[in-house]
Amino acid sequence: MQFFVDTADVGEIKTLAETGMLDGVTTNPSLIMKAGRPMLEVIAEICSIVDGPVSAEVTAIETEQMIAEGRKLAEIAPNIAIKLPLTWDGLKACRALTADGHMVNVTLCFSSAQALLAAKAGATFISPFIGRLDDMGLDGMKLIEEIRAIYDNYEDLSTEILAASIRTTNHVQQAAIAGADVATIPPAILSKLIHHPLTDKGLDQFLADWKATGQSIL
Ligand code: E4P
Repeated sequence: MQFFVDTADVGEIKTLAETGMLDGVTTNPSLIMKAGRPMLEVIAEICSIVDGPVSAEVTAIETEQMIAEGRKLAEIAPNIAIKLPLTWDGLKACRALTADGHMVNVTLCFSSAQALLAAKAGATFISPFIGRLDDMGLDGMKLIEEIRAIYDNYEDLSTEILAASIRTTNHVQQAAIAGADVATIPPAILSKLIHHPLTDKGLDQFLADWKATGQSIL
């Protein structure tokens, strides 16, 4: 499974890139607002840190403007994935931009029928939003399972499932079990993935016992 980080905070991206676990980045207009910096500048900086796909979202809602914005974003770096909303206009733009040879991430997916449409439009990634479905009392993980089953039924569908709107470490584990190709994870959750109290307890014990031997390896 590939790990993307869901942030436009360059400092956090640098720190996580140092772990060697970071395969890409996703941003959206809300994250750009939070970063408080010009979008084109921040996306360029992210692309200079991360070699994998960096999703940058268009803000137009009509196909032709989406295509124009997408092409401009794609000029930033070769690893840009143009993010488009799951609307008819978005899917038409998806077809045009993938025909240009660009990566496209179709976002705001809340049903397996939408995911099927995005795959038929040639999307590189489909982003089902797990957490926002859970927030409504629905089962976000079930959507990942349904999309996996549908995509596996058809050899000609090569779209990768990018589990998004992740709120917990358990979401990451469950998305991996369900066969998501990628998870885009908030920085705080990505950092938490390594923690287990028994690891900490076990290490403390090993270190104490080693000290008691009076030995050293070097
Ligand atoms: C995905 O690409 C989105 O940026 C993100 O995962 C949305 O997450 P949220 O529901 O926590 O805003």
